Amino acid sequence: MGVEIAVDGLTKSFGSQLIWDDVTLTLPAGEISVMLGPSGTGKSVFLKTLVGLLQPDRGSIVIDGRDITRLREADLYEVRKLFGVLFQDGALFGSMNLYDNIAFPLREHTRKSEAEVEAVVSQKMDLVGLTGAEDKLPGEISGGMRKRAGLARALVLDPQVLLFDEPDSGLDPVRTAYLNQLIVDLNAQTGATCLIVTHDINTARTVPDNIGLLYHKHLAMFGPREMLLSSEEPVVRQFLNAQRVGPIGMSEEKDADELAAESGQELPPLPPIPPQLEPSDGSTRPTQREPGAWCRDNGVTPPPGSFRGDATGSGALSTAGAAPA
Ligand SMILES: Nc1ncnc2c1ncn2[C@@H]1O[C@H](COP(=O)(O)OP(=O)(O)O)[C@@H](O)[C@H]1O
Ligand SMILES: [Mg+2]
Repeated sequence: MGVEIAVDGLTKSFGSQLIWDDVTLTLPAGEISVMLGPSGTGKSVFLKTLVGLLQPDRGSIVIDGRDITRLREADLYEVRKLFGVLFQDGALFGSMNLYDNIAFPLREHTRKSEAEVEAVVSQKMDLVGLTGAEDKLPGEISGGMRKRAGLARALVLDPQVLLFDEPDSGLDPVRTAYLNQLIVDLNAQTGATCLIVTHDINTARTVPDNIGLLYHKHLAMFGPREMLLSSEEPVVRQFLNAQRVGPIGMSEEKDADELAAESGQELPPLPPIPPQLEPSDGSTRPTQREPGAWCRDNGVTPPPGSFRGDATGSGALSTAGAAPA
């Protein structure tokens, strides 16, 4: 089962450039969380800080009762084994075939025999649908296959935490759907705590248990999926619904004139909260919550049409005062 990661007051800058300030959130054990944010807001820096590749200026990252920002290099090496990371480009060694790339962490971090290594590599390659591609070089295969190879490599040490940096970048919608299903299936099979950095709104709406949004050097919001998908907070609402009207402009924030020009424009209603993606084998997610439960428990009226097909009939749709669809 995965581990909880508690981030408190995390701040990171490079020289005089502040990346983000006072980021506080908890990735619950075994749950899938998504981190959204415009390009350049420091999402990749956040992932690298979580695994100890970058040192924060302030704040703590507590995993298994230990603040990993204060560990010695030797202890950090042990903690890193908890993590499997799929970097943006797969980060494969170009001169190594897929087999050797995927075997690399096992040869580096364990004392397994070559026969044991082979058993693990074969199993992970099968899991991501790469059986038969052992001898291929990264340069000979498609971007989607490179991502799956990167994922197989991230899985060989049976990590308790899986981090994905824009796993869907450069993939078409069909490949993205396959990859999202693979992430949900892996989460169901292993119970690993997952964090996905993505730009894909459909992924953010359907895959995670929790959503966060980095914006303007801060964590604008982090919480259960239903909380963000029903939020009227302007930045959250604009980003999660891919709208042009809102505080986020083409490059940075819109200025006062731009916002004033928009002030009369009526925002379209929030779209319904969709069902969460289920594991493909028909099992339930290890952290599955009843659809609508968060909204009901917090007295929030979800957007009209949310939780359709909720078999329990207890979805927040029935809450008094729900707007007519
Ligand atoms: N190692 C580094 N040294 C200096 N600046 C960096 C380094 N890594 C990232 N940055 C800067 O941090 C900012 C955020 O980068 P990044 O995390 O890659 O953004 P995102 O992944 O959200 O698009 C960028 O301005 C980038 O130039
Ligand atoms: Mg990035």
